Amino acid sequence: MLNLKQRIVLDFGTENTRLYVLDTEKLIIEPTVLTVAEETGTVLAMGLEAKQMIGRTPHDIISVKPVNRGIVADYNLGFIYLKYLFNKATKISWLTKPEVLVSMPTSSSQVEKKIIASMLKDVGARIVHIVEQPITASIGAKIPIAEPIGSLILDIGGGKTQISLISMGNIISYRHLDWGGNDLTEDIRLYFQDNFNLLIGYHLAETLKLQTGFLESKNLRRVKQRLLKQKRLEIVETGDDLGIRISGRDLVTNLPQKVVVTNKQLSLVIQKSLKPVIHLINNIMQDIPPELINDVIDKGVVMTGGGSLLSYLPEYLTRSIGLPCYLAEEPETRIIYGSAKMLENLELFRYTLKL
Ligand SMILES: Nc1ncnc2c1ncn2[C@@H]1O[C@H](COP(=O)(O)OP(=O)(O)OP(=O)(O)O)[C@@H](O)[C@H]1O
Ligand SMILES: [Mg+2]
Repeated sequence: MLNLKQRIVLDFGTENTRLYVLDTEKLIIEPTVLTVAEETGTVLAMGLEAKQMIGRTPHDIISVKPVNRGIVADYNLGFIYLKYLFNKATKISWLTKPEVLVSMPTSSSQVEKKIIASMLKDVGARIVHIVEQPITASIGAKIPIAEPIGSLILDIGGGKTQISLISMGNIISYRHLDWGGNDLTEDIRLYFQDNFNLLIGYHLAETLKLQTGFLESKNLRRVKQRLLKQKRLEIVETGDDLGIRISGRDLVTNLPQKVVVTNKQLSLVIQKSLKPVIHLINNIMQDIPPELINDVIDKGVVMTGGGSLLSYLPEYLTRSIGLPCYLAEEPETRIIYGSAKMLENLELFRYTLKL
């Protein structure tokens, strides 16, 4: 039967787009990327298919990410991509125009909000609600945001990191960084370029990040079998540490080359890349009203976003800032499920909606 009151929530992220249809409970998650023929502008692939093509296409075919640091950077491609996802999720006609709620970074400007609203109207939305990501992330993480209790929520995405202190449904304090998990991948890639004269691809740098992260050597040993099975990373013994053999192209000779990076070296690269995040958390701590300090000390920091999934990151942050940091359950889907809860109970959350 045709549902005339469709409700859809959207998280249009730098790295991934999540779209959830409330009435059918259908969730779609796809990388926010398109493969485009540079000369004609023809879109050749979108989403997962396009992500697999990154760095593997001829030079006249490019990968375009229409969202940069949580903000629409390319209206036309963003529109084409959203239309594709909406069509994949549901049937939209003039009769079934959906009500859409989209979460954006708190740092977004009015112009940036208008752009996304107009894009969603072009895609077919009847009504568009724009809400702030720290609020939907908190709702998704089951933080009791309406209560007079201070909660710190940290969202690490692909291109943006946001930390907020929330109490009584409001963001009391907010800090953000143009830094995310993708910057960490890039720092890993650059490390090989700068220290080994080795050019490695985006996919290898990402695999290194996803598979090893902050692994201590004993854990690295444990995952050895799994990695070998996938034939992506080769583990070698290097005295008291473990190493990973990496293949790339030597920037001096232009020939294929292999180098060994130790687990410790990799951990140092990650630590260096994470410095701004630690700074960000320390920074917001200085803003906390005395009445809320105890709450924050008691409850620590709740972490959401895909970037939080870096192995051992909560432990590392806890050690570095001296406050307990916890991973929310399924951190990468907290914003989309929190958004769904909000749209389902719009009246209940109206006090926090800045429409
Ligand atoms: N297991 C993992 N270990 C380390 N990083 C991970 C892991 N899983 C996902 N990531 C990283 O999380 C990032 C994507 O997170 P997410 O999907 O929350 O970002 P986004 O919402 O698209 O971006 P943003 O919120 O910055 O606009 C990517 O950088 C990805 O590499
Ligand atoms: Mg995000």
